[in-house]
Amino acid sequence: DRGPDVRPDLAGRKVVVSAGGTREYLDPVRFLGNRSSGLQGYALARTAAARGAHVTLVSANVSLADPAGVSVVRVETTDQLREAVVAATATADAVVMAAAPADFRPVSMSDAKIKKADDGSAPPIELVQNPDILAEISHDRAREGAVVVGFAAETGDASGSVLDLGRAKLARKGCDLLVVNDVSGGAVFGSTDNEAVILGADGAVVEVPHGTKTALAHVVWDEVGRRFP
Ligand code: CTP
Ligand code: CA
Repeated sequence: DRGPDVRPDLAGRKVVVSAGGTREYLDPVRFLGNRSSGLQGYALARTAAARGAHVTLVSANVSLADPAGVSVVRVETTDQLREAVVAATATADAVVMAAAPADFRPVSMSDAKIKKADDGSAPPIELVQNPDILAEISHDRAREGAVVVGFAAETGDASGSVLDLGRAKLARKGCDLLVVNDVSGGAVFGSTDNEAVILGADGAVVEVPHGTKTALAHVVWDEVGRRFP
């Protein structure tokens, strides 16, 4: 944490941060979800507010206290997250998508709780892809000028290293910055620490050493601040 060294360098800026993981309901009591704790997004919201920004935090299913001085919008599903982020982004200087939207949702949600069949069978679950919020925001010409940041949790695989995958994702999404985490082993989820490389569409490569999610959040805002027009 930068503690007393924090300067109000984001004063007058309006920023949007998404945090947590979305839920896609199968029926009124069951959902598909993911392991995002929301800690990184909340650290981003808190640090931006500490640096003087007007912050809207779109929060999906986290169990964390509202950061002081931040407007919090609570959502559950990816469609709700998309609506809230797109609305808040209309007048924003920067958007950071730290949330983990579920990539898929059930084709339909049952209005009643799904019951077990007596014959021991299980119902098939058919999924459709959710909209890609980050790509939509990045490619929306009306929002030209807002600095757009994505996060990517990657495990290297046969198709490439974590950094190769990050570069490809940055290009595919069309955002200005992509914060790439190596999550091989699952150590990042729910942890207060993080280690990352920030890739810029301008070719920048900023290595962030192992440290707190608050420290990483400050480096993200440093890089965002550098890119304000
Ligand atoms: N993201 C988004 N909308 C989605 C999925 C992801 O805005 N429907 C954002 C995330 O918030 C994150 C970035 O895109 O900032 C990268 O998310 P990631 O899950 O790594 O990307 P995907 O395109 O879903 O690719 P993958 O198949 O690797 O999950
Ligand atoms: Ca995904």
